Amino acid sequence: MKIAVIQGPNLNMLGIREQNIYGPMKLEDIHTQMKNVAEQNSFEIEFFQSNLEGEIVDRVQECMGDSDGIIINPAAYTHTSIAIRDAISAVKLPAIEVHISNVHAREEFRSKSLIAPVCSGQIVGMGAFSYHLAMMGMMQILNEVKAMREQQAAAQTQQAQQQA
Ligand code: DQA
Repeated sequence: MKIAVIQGPNLNMLGIREQNIYGPMKLEDIHTQMKNVAEQNSFEIEFFQSNLEGEIVDRVQECMGDSDGIIINPAAYTHTSIAIRDAISAVKLPAIEVHISNVHAREEFRSKSLIAPVCSGQIVGMGAFSYHLAMMGMMQILNEVKAMREQQAAAQTQQAQQQA
């Protein structure tokens, strides 16, 4: 199963921007760690970062039929983007919203997320480790989805055999 990781504006500057808030890790180092976890657990993973809202909408749409779940840090668009929210809602895939900083302990405008209501869950304030926790959450969700599909397939086979 495949996880799409989508990173919003200015996250390409991790390790440079406001280290007191976002810590010292670069985005590529975070992605290397996520890739290792995915590989150890037999998941495929793909990474995308953009500073442009429309590109993020396009990437979310592309996940339909291609990925099984989305881990997204919409960054500043968390607080403003109805377009990204609608895209996540449209593709009907499990999504986890991630924030490195504790958005609830900062400026008031950061405590409102337009994205969270269309996500399965939200992880905030754990530094770069937020991404690791999101991986754990997404792999759990997808393993449950897989088990449910397998159960349904087995039940259908059994039903077909009984009817034959
Ligand atoms: C952020 C929090 C947002 O409010 C901010 O605009 C970011 C990063 C975080 O990961 O803590 O760019 O999403």
